[in-house]
Amino acid sequence: MRKLLFIMLSWAMWLPFYVHSDDPVPQPKIIGGIESGSSEIPWQAYLNMTFGEGANERTFICGGVVISADVVLTAAHCMRNGFETAKPSKVKVWAGITSIFSAGSLNAVAVHEIVLHPQYNASRFANDMAIVKLSSPLPDNAQPIRLASADDQQRADEAFANGWVTNGERQPNLLVSGWGSTDASNASSGATRLRQTLLSGVPDNICDSMWGANINSSEYGIFLCAGSVSPTLGRDSCFGDSGGPLVWQDPLRAADSDFGLRLVGLVSFGEGCAGRLPGVYSEVASQRSWLESEIGQGALDQPMATFAVDPFLANYEGAGEVVDGGQSVASGGGNSGSSGGGLGLGGLALLVAVTWLRRRVMGQALSR
Ligand code: ARG
Repeated sequence: MRKLLFIMLSWAMWLPFYVHSDDPVPQPKIIGGIESGSSEIPWQAYLNMTFGEGANERTFICGGVVISADVVLTAAHCMRNGFETAKPSKVKVWAGITSIFSAGSLNAVAVHEIVLHPQYNASRFANDMAIVKLSSPLPDNAQPIRLASADDQQRADEAFANGWVTNGERQPNLLVSGWGSTDASNASSGATRLRQTLLSGVPDNICDSMWGANINSSEYGIFLCAGSVSPTLGRDSCFGDSGGPLVWQDPLRAADSDFGLRLVGLVSFGEGCAGRLPGVYSEVASQRSWLESEIGQGALDQPMATFAVDPFLANYEGAGEVVDGGQSVASGGGNSGSSGGGLGLGGLALLVAVTWLRRRVMGQALSR
């Protein structure tokens, strides 16, 4: 069963967003979200990575986060395909767009350096973070978001502890956005416009008990977990959202021009999507000193932005499919990987098998 879990994790990364260069772009979104307004999430980036050569060429998409005019953060796993690390010349970045049809070759921003976290562990998704340094600044309609400080993170953790209810309504205290799948069992589900949804922070110890061996207590500082706002509502990030922003609103700063929005995490992994287990994110606050050493204090101390809309006040009424409580995050316990019916396991099994074969052929370790 452990094996199945890991296969599903790796499937999450490899299969759905693999596109041939001249195929139509896959249709993506978040699970149980709403469409974002055109300048609502100006810190969201869209990344396109091409690996391999000739007939083996594969293109993947990921999310990213604008943290300064020429620096974007993403997941380290987005910059890897097996043993190959993305080459700067094969990565394209867009920001300030809502529709992926606006991501053309003319407005793509080139990359001059990619820095993977030195402690990134590809089999455990620990420190799943990469810095993408751009060759030129992003357009003006892209706007950086401030990173949470250690103090912000501590207050966010308190809010998660107070707002989490195992079998009831939880406080919506996190925002996630992306162009990833809207349906975990259908890789080509969804629309082409950016989606967003509100989630609830899951306290580290609860997430640990649900995920079991995959997360341990010495790692609470690098992982951050988020689940649906209700055990009966399917909401989550999903395949293709990786590297994208998880944002907390500091209630003490909600009246500021940036609505007190702080980047707390990057989409990293899950067990399928919107199933029993919360989504897991790479925590940002604990990586500030590494980020500072790479891009400098100045790049981290951005002037306060003025955002057009407070995404925590948007209308999320009805956002999220009603799910059977038996497979919801709230049901908790264990990580058997024998996911509930909501995943459409039949179709998924086929995809898993295909991935397994592909990975076998490529000579990669199964448990990645
Ligand atoms: N690893 C996935 C990606 O590469 C993201 C999975 C997030 N899963 C979740 N259940 N929150 O796009």
